[in-house]
Amino acid sequence: MKILLIGLGGREHALAWSLSKSSRVKKIFCAPGNAGMSGLVSPVAIPPLDVQGLVRFAQENKVDLTVVGPEAPLAAGLADAMLSQGLHVFGPCRSAAQLESSKVFAKGLMKKYEIPTASFEVFEDPDSAGSYLSHLHPWPEAVVLKADGLAQGKGVVICRTREEALEKIEAMMVDGCYGAAGKRVVVEEFLKGEETTLMAFCDGKTLLPLLPSQDHKRLLEADQGPNTGGMGACAPYGGISFEGMTLIKKDIFGKLLWAMEREGIPYQGLLYIGLMLTENGPKVLEFNVRFGDPETQAVLPLLDTDLAEVLWAASQGRLDDLRLKWKEQFALCVVLVSEGYPGQYPTGRTLMGLEEAASQEGVFIFHAGTDYVKSRWITAGGRVLNIVGLGESLGLARVKAYSAVQKIHFDGCHYRKDIGVRGIQEYAKV
Ligand code: AMP
Ligand code: GLY
Repeated sequence: MKILLIGLGGREHALAWSLSKSSRVKKIFCAPGNAGMSGLVSPVAIPPLDVQGLVRFAQENKVDLTVVGPEAPLAAGLADAMLSQGLHVFGPCRSAAQLESSKVFAKGLMKKYEIPTASFEVFEDPDSAGSYLSHLHPWPEAVVLKADGLAQGKGVVICRTREEALEKIEAMMVDGCYGAAGKRVVVEEFLKGEETTLMAFCDGKTLLPLLPSQDHKRLLEADQGPNTGGMGACAPYGGISFEGMTLIKKDIFGKLLWAMEREGIPYQGLLYIGLMLTENGPKVLEFNVRFGDPETQAVLPLLDTDLAEVLWAASQGRLDDLRLKWKEQFALCVVLVSEGYPGQYPTGRTLMGLEEAASQEGVFIFHAGTDYVKSRWITAGGRVLNIVGLGESLGLARVKAYSAVQKIHFDGCHYRKDIGVRGIQEYAKV
């Protein structure tokens, strides 16, 4: 099988690594890929948003399956364009990708089909949003404002005070701080609890859940500092009870798949659900229409089933023939970032210790913002490396990951020291 993988981050490196283990896979192209993936893939210099360029490449190179990493090409109709030319793709069509590209669409669907989520209102103009917020009584602990469109993960703001919320509405809807994405805004109930990620392979009718995982979105320890693209992850996450999981399968996954079928846009691809485990049961925070980053880097090393076979079966509507097998292990991923991230950061800093770290047993290194220039590895992005440790417990996976992290050095390297601490506490409760 020839695969065309789209994307360039740590998630795509983990996907390429996992796909490359399949005896069915003869070649992996990656558009554009990153330097760390070079032993696994043939890089293709086509940007992920060049839909026609990617379709042409897949046709000319007789690609059997295209696997899409990021959301933007899906929201731009890459899957539709591939399918219209008789090409096979793992990833939803544009209208189904609205689950991520439009918060208004996702919330409306959840309301219509009674999928548990935070209560909400949608506003199309700043005056009515302002009036709603000014009259909200009593003022809750916080409200959550969400820009409707894709805003590179930055379009969600938690506002503790009324003044803050009114200011942010002005910034979003009048000043256009998120561009067109902030023209419509969802004002949402603030939920409290533990956050967890559940991903599932979907073929339109059948859904196979992956292991639950937990992301660490804030820059600093104890969930302080700004939101980032993800500072680490661990899997499997142990904080979901048996009853909770049964409820999630029935009330969230089951209803959603059915809802999408009823709406005439069956969902094929990877479905990512961000959940808040509240006192009143699990509630959906967000849907994503692609693999999570960095959750994928922690979850895929635990998969004991041929990933290429699963993605192919999903693209053919044949997931009901498959069962997923998992290693009886735990994984923990620490993300190393450049100083200044998620704001401005320097690049070109020399990376040292990579080989020594990677040679440790049970350690995987997935590159994100790196480059290989004049025989040395250098930093080339905000999120630089994903260091994954595997172990018989989450604690042991943590020791593996952090001992590998200690071997790596670049000037201005920052990482969180508490990845997995809360996850380990969840296991201690059982
Ligand atoms: P999202 O991009 O929708 O995942 O939101 C980013 C982050 O904001 C989530 O990971 C949560 O930590 C937080 N968040 C989003 N919606 C809510 C909510 N209704 N209540 C509390 N926190 C939320
Ligand atoms: N880990 C969060 C995301 O992939 O959006």
